[in-house]
Amino acid sequence: MKRLVPVVVIAIVILAGVLIVATLRRAPERDYRTWSGYGGGPEQLRYSSLDQINRNNVKNLQVAWTWDSGEAGGLQTQPLVVDGVVFVYTPTHKTVALDGATGQARWTFDSGLHGQGPNRGFMYWTDGTDQRLFSAVDQYLYAIDARTGRPIESFGTAGRIDLRDGLERPRDQQSVRLTSPGVVYRDLVIVGGRVSEGLPASPGDIRAFDVRTGAQRWRFRTIPVPGEFGAETWSPESYRVNGGANSWAGMALDEARGLVYVPTGSAASDFYGANRLGDNLFANSLLALDAATGERRWHFQFVHHDIWDRDLPSPPTLITVERNGRRIDAVAQTTKHGYVFVFDRETGAPLFPIEERPFPASDVPGEATAATQPIPLLPRPFARQQLTADLLTTRTPASAAWAREQFQTFRSEGQFVPLGLDRQTVVFPGFDGGAEWGGSAGDPTTGVLYVNANDLAWTGGLAPNNVGQSSRDVYLRECASCHRDDLRGTPPSIPSLVDIGQRRTASAIRTTIQQGAGRMPGFPNLGPQATAAIADYLVTGQHGPAGPSGQSPDDLPYRFTGYRKFLDPDGYPATAPPWGTLNAIDLNTGEYRWSIPFGEYPELVAEGLTNTGSENYGGPVVTAGGLLFIAASNHDRKFRAYDKATGTLLYETVMPFSGNATPAVYEVNGRQFIVVAAGSGKTTGPSGGMYVAFALPQP
Ligand code: HEC
Repeated sequence: MKRLVPVVVIAIVILAGVLIVATLRRAPERDYRTWSGYGGGPEQLRYSSLDQINRNNVKNLQVAWTWDSGEAGGLQTQPLVVDGVVFVYTPTHKTVALDGATGQARWTFDSGLHGQGPNRGFMYWTDGTDQRLFSAVDQYLYAIDARTGRPIESFGTAGRIDLRDGLERPRDQQSVRLTSPGVVYRDLVIVGGRVSEGLPASPGDIRAFDVRTGAQRWRFRTIPVPGEFGAETWSPESYRVNGGANSWAGMALDEARGLVYVPTGSAASDFYGANRLGDNLFANSLLALDAATGERRWHFQFVHHDIWDRDLPSPPTLITVERNGRRIDAVAQTTKHGYVFVFDRETGAPLFPIEERPFPASDVPGEATAATQPIPLLPRPFARQQLTADLLTTRTPASAAWAREQFQTFRSEGQFVPLGLDRQTVVFPGFDGGAEWGGSAGDPTTGVLYVNANDLAWTGGLAPNNVGQSSRDVYLRECASCHRDDLRGTPPSIPSLVDIGQRRTASAIRTTIQQGAGRMPGFPNLGPQATAAIADYLVTGQHGPAGPSGQSPDDLPYRFTGYRKFLDPDGYPATAPPWGTLNAIDLNTGEYRWSIPFGEYPELVAEGLTNTGSENYGGPVVTAGGLLFIAASNHDRKFRAYDKATGTLLYETVMPFSGNATPAVYEVNGRQFIVVAAGSGKTTGPSGGMYVAFALPQP
């Protein structure tokens, strides 16, 4: 008894301490008037409480300013706004600070590198005096003085760090780029990165760097080493051989809890997993990590042993929902296969039931598919789940006949059907979602999540890997997964290499192979001899020996035969509409508030075929003015405003290029603006690199 009293007292003191700390740690409610992070802020809500522009006056919206980089190539950038200054990228990844009221450029930071491909945003940090903008170009992360645009020399080496450093694998064989920004927590900048989809691929480590010095402060291995949790879900050598399981879509941060929510993608190689047998934790997972240390709190895996490239494609959304009168801080994650999964942010407990359902096994030698995959019972999917004959196009009699004929050759049985050797397997929704990198918008005042989605079918298959040594063999192993066996690619996302010799010199092709370009990873592993041999093959059509460096120990017995979008001979989806949708999902109940086709083809509209929906990339934003703003649609180049409660279209305008990017909302001197990048780049037409800002007319 005597000894118990002090124990009880100590326990009470500790409990009181914990309670006080818990109260202090609750962050002040954000007012959602700023846009100083990717997704508007750390919660990734893409929500603004600005309401000057509202349901009644949005019809008067005007272009307030435009800024043209003068470059082509397309943009996926969501601007970041601090104190009325709008930070943007150009298509070649120069960073420019624009006056938010006028669009006048204040400064430009040119790294001297010619960046290519997606660069979706920035990270910002300040301690009150120092103001740093973290800007990505290729494999580098720069710290720039946000007031002057000059690199901060004391950060890393002369103002930048090389993301290939510190990965425990030889630096010159790594390919890692920050295509979407991470988050800033206290004095840490936390990032993932995009790596190759085929072997060899860099590991997808999640890393935190010191905002002042660039020193690496922590790292979380998404492919565990022997002895670590999850290592038994891989082949014994996976931690050295496999790569990927990387986070390329962006993250969310709960500042008060000190937790960062990190979505990851599939492991490399994407489509054949014989050398990574098991569930492959923490690929295709949502990770809740301690933002200060990188320690794992909880995780959920969305696809076990992924062989369909079902990366988590969007940043998670931190949103509070109501359940039986109780408020629950939740995290919502959308997927390429068209689901939204909702969890308690603290514990990882699902807020709607999730069932592990059986799916077919693979008959490809060496492959072992997972017996089950998780499917949430609510909300129901926001994209169709199985392509059947009655869902084929009827646009013209000829396209309908063509689609029926093709369809008969496919295997089409819904989700998680293994790719086979004998015929193409339908992946529906396709490799580009369902959900994509634009992310969803969450309304913290209602608990409604807004998700735009693609609804197209793609197909994929496997073929025996030719282990030969000729340049054509190496091409088939390394390049055909994207550019296809017949060099035709999948334009515009993956260019055709037919007659590439008429457009590019062998030397330019060698550089592309070594360094990569846009969505294409670099192949530093190939070595100069094999690289030159492939370039010669592409230019001349003749194939000779590729040399010893053309054979890699990573080569697998089967290879992917290429991403194939199921399009009819005229280039339109060979499925029935809708080809794209916009959805409002009530996360309190799991029910849909509304769901509409989203996007059109102007030339089909002219023929009377309206409301088809279309492929769309780039996300929505939602405001306290009762509005949802979105560009994103690939073909009609429109910027639209909808009533967020009903999905009624209230305003639309055509931009010079399609806005394949997510807008940002901000105010300067009491005037509300919405700015969006317009660059196209997702279609075969011309591309550019502009920003368009909208506001109400000045009184
Ligand atoms: C993961 C998919 C992928 C793989 C694998 C891939 N590429 Fe590419 N490649 C692309 C994409 C996407 C582009 C367009 C890049 C851009 O945005 O500019 C491209 C562009 C190119 C270009 C420039 C084309 C032009 O019209 O200028 C060449 C040449 C090329 N790739 C060759 C290769 C070779 C050779 C290999 C194999 C060693 C390879 N690629 C592997 C996706 C890929």
